[in-house]
Amino acid sequence: MKQEKILIMGACGQIGVELTLALRQQYSNAQVIASDLRDEAHPLLEGSGPYYKLDATDIKAVAELVQKESITQIYLLAALLSATGEKMPMKAWEINMNSLLQVLELGVEQKLTKIYWPSSIAVFGTTTPKNDTPQKTIVEPTTVYGISKYAGELWCQYYHRRWGLDVRSLRYPGLISWKSAPGGGTTDYAVEIYHEALKHKAYTSFLSENTYLPMMYMDDAIRGTIELMEAPEDQIRSRMAYNLSAMSFSPKEIAAAIQKHIPDFSISYAPDFRQAIADSWPSSIDDSAARSDWHWKHEFDLDKMTADMLKNLEK
Ligand code: NAD
Ligand code: SER
Repeated sequence: MKQEKILIMGACGQIGVELTLALRQQYSNAQVIASDLRDEAHPLLEGSGPYYKLDATDIKAVAELVQKESITQIYLLAALLSATGEKMPMKAWEINMNSLLQVLELGVEQKLTKIYWPSSIAVFGTTTPKNDTPQKTIVEPTTVYGISKYAGELWCQYYHRRWGLDVRSLRYPGLISWKSAPGGGTTDYAVEIYHEALKHKAYTSFLSENTYLPMMYMDDAIRGTIELMEAPEDQIRSRMAYNLSAMSFSPKEIAAAIQKHIPDFSISYAPDFRQAIADSWPSSIDDSAARSDWHWKHEFDLDKMTADMLKNLEK
């Protein structure tokens, strides 16, 4: 059997850094090629695996690298997220859609064994049921980011149906991590708050106090991603992205969790344009399909995540 060789695009981002390090542990440094538009992110130097500067929308360069490195799997993480996307809608559409369509075409041409491409809770909009949002429901996204994610899911499903391409996807909630910074999302407040709590014992949230959103600790997201990708093909019953859930909390609740460790921490609120985006998203997600199809299970709740975030950021 041909040895798997994985290409990660967007490897210097919030997810990419940790996913690259985790996949290098699972396979080997040499089998996991990291790439991004940016210079190599510092935490990736730890593992000293291969790194390329690569534009995910430059299909010629991507195809050449796939050939040169005998790539068998692609993880496409390069994207503009929700808040940045609203500032540059056409650019977000171009990056998010063109990179995906080109990778799907390449997947068929080069007979790639698997492709991973993440979707988001941003596919849901104001007409979607807000609590315990089901896997299949009304989907009318309000942001260009959400539109690109929903269109992307349909393309992934199409390539699987039409060409048998093994492309898998998750609708991540907001992700919280300490190793790498988030890159322009609406859920970024839930990372910034820990940094500010340690530095200044105060934080001004750009979302209002009772804005509940689905959230997840990065450790769970990385494990879930690898478990999805390693699951036997017959367990993957949805070729649209799977809902994935761990917890739901508001700015007021995360502040209270931090105050258990830093009693004099204080939070204030100054909602900006990201409030409307957050208001259009679900408060909580029903991920029972992922739990029953490929046995997804989260490990971190708000208190466990808060203790781990503060411990690691303090270091
Ligand atoms: P991020 O913004 O932190 O990282 C994205 C990376 O892509 C950056 O390093 C950026 O330099 C790179 N990039 C942008 N354009 C590129 C291009 N043309 N070519 C190559 N690289 C390019 O984002 P992230 O949080 O790591 O998200 C990764 C994926 O997961 C995205 O598809 C995002 O939509 C999805 N997602 C993230 C979250 C979250 O909370 N972080 C939630 C849901 C879905
Ligand atoms: N965390 C992401 C964002 O806020 C959700 O996809 O954009």
